[in-house]
Amino acid sequence: MQTDAEHPASPLRASRARALSGRCRPPGDKSVSHRSLILGTLAVGETAIEGLLEGEDVLRTAEACRALGARIDRLGPGSWSVRGPGLGSLLEPRETLDFGNAGTGSRLMMGVVAGHPITARFDGDASLRKRPMRRILDPLTQQGARVLEEAEGGRCPILLRGAAEPLPVEYKTPVASAQIKSAVLLCGLNSPGRTVVIESEASRDHTEKMLAHFGARIASEPFGPHGRKITLEGRPELRPAPVRVPADPSSAAFPLVAALIVPGSEIVIEGVMINPLRNGLLTTLQEMGARISFENRRAEGGEEVADIRVAASTLAGVDVPAERAPSMIDEYPILAVAAAFAGGETRMRGLSELRVKESDRLEAIAAGLRANAVECEISGDDLIVRGGTGRVSGGGVVETHLDHRIAMSFLVMGLAAEQDVTVDDDRMIATSFPDFRALMEVLGARFA
Ligand code: S3P
Repeated sequence: MQTDAEHPASPLRASRARALSGRCRPPGDKSVSHRSLILGTLAVGETAIEGLLEGEDVLRTAEACRALGARIDRLGPGSWSVRGPGLGSLLEPRETLDFGNAGTGSRLMMGVVAGHPITARFDGDASLRKRPMRRILDPLTQQGARVLEEAEGGRCPILLRGAAEPLPVEYKTPVASAQIKSAVLLCGLNSPGRTVVIESEASRDHTEKMLAHFGARIASEPFGPHGRKITLEGRPELRPAPVRVPADPSSAAFPLVAALIVPGSEIVIEGVMINPLRNGLLTTLQEMGARISFENRRAEGGEEVADIRVAASTLAGVDVPAERAPSMIDEYPILAVAAAFAGGETRMRGLSELRVKESDRLEAIAAGLRANAVECEISGDDLIVRGGTGRVSGGGVVETHLDHRIAMSFLVMGLAAEQDVTVDDDRMIATSFPDFRALMEVLGARFA
């Protein structure tokens, strides 16, 4: 997204709200949505998707899949059909694949292109152009792809030529990252051999689950105390499989924390995915004393989901271990807001990966907290927040740096702070949660 005279930033202000109440359903999970379009493209025949997140990031992935030969139609709200050309039959895109703000879409699609004898150019907005891609390109070149052009430091725009016959590899990921793991697996799909990915800390497993759902032979076993070893047999016959996308726990986090910090609130958030590799925030909030309960637990589309009841709570600061980071990697901005309202100190350990998200999230969180008179400190890779025991002054203007989660987190802060909180730009919210404002207003939030 550009910001210039023709595309001005769009500030938004949040004001102290009365008790939030009611029920809501956040949009479909972003990770599952990207993967459903990609696997639908790699299967021959029609894949039906229900509950797809219609956020800008996912729509960019849909465009990229079309450029590789898929027919993708929107049948109704959240209801999509993908007709794939199938693994091994992708077309070379005629134009640049523009992923906008989407790290996940671009990185997963690099894996797809790397496993086919086609050349594609990858690009995106100012935020995506800053994000490190070497971590993806390194394993993909080991698998036989070639980087023909790249911007300084292995960044977009990147021209990538895929391998006609990707080599089977065993790859150990240098950081816990589902994007790296998924790129290697998606490339390995078209390899005549077996692709193995080892991660020393388990990251979200949506790619593995969905590959199995589409008929691939894939196994995942424990590796060391916290890791996994994933083995994929190449050249499977992927068959279309219906996908029902559960509500995104990373989006549910915003109304959830809002209900915790706005006095008197009680809400229910429906159909939220509670995959154990995504639930670090819930664990942490419960340790802080949050009143959260799970109702109507059920299986939906291969994932466990639940309706989450949340009531305003007195929170206490906690020490969040580094090992928990992969299961709540996108939730630190909103956890920092919860911590600002807690009593005592919250220390969040091992946050180096936050520096390479849509913004340098570690710095953006700290700057946003300080702008609202919350005491905090960055110590190495840890963030320490000293909470105001239910009280935060607010009154700040927060720089969002093209980062949707920074914008939504600080808007949530404004619902409970003494003075309004303004974010400098709300446009990026549409990348992951287009109806954020409307959904929050139905619960009682006040934005202007
Ligand atoms: C995602 C993986 C995570 C996460 C991102 C979505 C995915 O990134 O931050 O929002 O869908 O695979 P990393 O793999 O870089 O940790």
